[in-house]
Amino acid sequence: MTQRIAIVTGANGGLGESMCKALIEQGRKVIGTFALGHEAAAATWQEEMKQQGFDITMKAVDVCDYSDCKRLLEEIERTEGHIDILVNNAGITRDAPLKKMQPEQWQAVIQTNLNSMFNMCQPVFEAMCNRGWGRIVNISSLNGEKGQFGQANYSAAKAGIYGFTKAIAQEGAKKGVTVNAVSPGYIDTPMVRQVPEKVLNSIVAGIPVGRLGQPAEVARAVAFLTADDAGFITGTNMSVNGGQYMA
Ligand code: CAA
Repeated sequence: MTQRIAIVTGANGGLGESMCKALIEQGRKVIGTFALGHEAAAATWQEEMKQQGFDITMKAVDVCDYSDCKRLLEEIERTEGHIDILVNNAGITRDAPLKKMQPEQWQAVIQTNLNSMFNMCQPVFEAMCNRGWGRIVNISSLNGEKGQFGQANYSAAKAGIYGFTKAIAQEGAKKGVTVNAVSPGYIDTPMVRQVPEKVLNSIVAGIPVGRLGQPAEVARAVAFLTADDAGFITGTNMSVNGGQYMA
C-alpha cells in the first residue's frame, strides 16, 4: 500500500511537533504547515526535526484565507500525492475578559481557530470521499467544552468546531471519511506558559491528574483517531485533559 499523506497545520507549534512525530511513527508521510512570515523559524525547526530522524516537508499557508488553503492543498495533491489525513491544529489565543476584548481579538481567534476548519477541509473533503478513505481531526479545547474566563473568543471558536465536526462527519460517513475532534486541556506548551503564573497554578490545582499534560499525550489521541482501523469512530470528541472536565 502506498504511504498515506498527512497534513498537520501549525506543525512547528507546541502540540503540532508531537503530532507530526506520532504520525511519522505510524508510517505516514507528514507535510506540516506554518504561518506566512515565519519561514526562518520553520526552516530551523524542520532541520531540528531532521536531526532527530523526522523528515517533515514544510509549507507556508494562511489558514485564515480560503484561497490560500485551496492553493496549497491543490499544489500538494499535484506534487506530493493524495491527502488522506488532515489534522487542523493551528490555533491562537487572544485572551481578555469580555469587557476589555477588542473586535480584532474576537475576529483573529474566530478566523484562525474556526474559519480555518472550513478553509482547510472544504478543498480536500470531496476528493477524500471520492477515494473512499479519509481521516480528519479537528483540534478543539477543554475550553470549548466548558468555557473559560477571559476566553469568550477562544471558547466560542473551539465550541464551534464540535458542530462543524459532527456535520461533516455525517457527510463523510458512508464514504470512508471519519471526522473527529480532540480537545486538549492544559498542556505544557508555549501557549499555556503565557497564562499568568498565579492563574495557571490555580488551574493546575483543579486538574485531577495533578499536572499539565504533555504534547505527546495529545498526539496519542490524534494517532488513534487517524489509524487505518479507526473507521468506525466518527463525529466524536476525545478529551485529553487529565480529568479536568468530564463531559
Ligand atoms: N474566574 C473568576 N474570576 C477570575 C478568573 C476566573 N477564572 N480569572 C480571573 N478572574 C478575576 C480576577 O480574580 C480579577 O478579579 P478582581 O478584579 O476582583 O481582582 C479579575 O478577574 C481580573 O480582571 P481583569 O479585568 O483585570 O483581567 P485581566 O485584564 O488581568 O485579564 C485574563 C485576565 C487575561 C483573563 C487572565 O486572567 C488570564 O490570562 N486568564 C487565563 C485564561 C486562560 O486560561 N487561557 C487559556 C490559555 S491556554 C489555552 O487556551 C489552551 C487550551 O486550549 C486549554
